[in-house]
Amino acid sequence: MGDARVIPVCCNDPVTTRGSTGRMASIAIYSVKGGVGKTTLAVNLAWCASTLSRRKTLLWDLDAANGSGFLLGVDPKRKHSADSIFADGSDTAKVIQSTAYPGLDLLPADESIRTLDRQLDRLGKKKRIARLTEGLSKAYDRIIFDCPPVLNELSAQIMRAADVVIVPLPPSPLSARALDVVVEEVRGSGKGHPPILPVLTMLDLRRSLHREARDANPTWPIIPLASAVEQCAVERQPVGAFAPRSPAARAIAQLWTAIERKLAQK
Ligand SMILES: Nc1ncnc2c1ncn2[C@@H]1O[C@H](COP(=O)(O)OP(=O)(O)OP(=O)(O)O)[C@@H](O)[C@H]1O
Ligand SMILES: [Mg+2]
Repeated sequence: MGDARVIPVCCNDPVTTRGSTGRMASIAIYSVKGGVGKTTLAVNLAWCASTLSRRKTLLWDLDAANGSGFLLGVDPKRKHSADSIFADGSDTAKVIQSTAYPGLDLLPADESIRTLDRQLDRLGKKKRIARLTEGLSKAYDRIIFDCPPVLNELSAQIMRAADVVIVPLPPSPLSARALDVVVEEVRGSGKGHPPILPVLTMLDLRRSLHREARDANPTWPIIPLASAVEQCAVERQPVGAFAPRSPAARAIAQLWTAIERKLAQK
């Protein structure tokens, strides 16, 4: 991967980040590929941001399936549909829900944003998500986007709004292709496009293909294939909340530290 904006990080340090940098930062968890662990990572990183780093954090679910809300144990409020925030003069506060975790709020998704890319296209405002993010920056230190696996106006807008893009990659040639597509998409978002941080996910070092992927990309953070992570969907909690000493919880916390360090350098 020869792109200078794909950032190598070392993630072996313990979690030490505390307090606020005084500036909101937005983090997109994105891939064009489905089922790679975006939602799982988004929820767990949002928990790290609020609980380990004590940042006021908003997890913004942009996938109609509302997986983030499910994993956080937040049941949907039916009063205001998720697409209502995109209308002129809308109030995001009406849609945002609190979670069981101090400092962590959720902007949930629902069926109404299934055609959000077309709605955004129709609005003709290329930076609608960036503007909404800016508005939310008064209330939050960190905004984390759980992105759908799409390549359209919605993903283009998210790339314009994000300060850093995290790309989960299970070790497979198809994932490597997905990373190439993301790099192209992010480059297309403009001159000062955000850095991309690829993360090897669901890594199982018993498998030779997985060891080869790790050896080929020694600076990429790793999230192991772990039943504790799968259990998030059963517990409806982030792994750090119910299995804080598990290797997976530690790996996710280290990834969060690496992201915070990257943001501090910006
Ligand atoms: N590190 C991991 N170890 C084991 N299972 C994992 C890991 N990460 C994710 N999974 C599992 O992989 C499946 C897909 O995860 P997830 O829903 O987060 O992916 P996604 O990229 O958001 O999918 P979609 O593109 O459909 O939104 C889930 O069953 C989840 O529990
Ligand atoms: Mg998802």
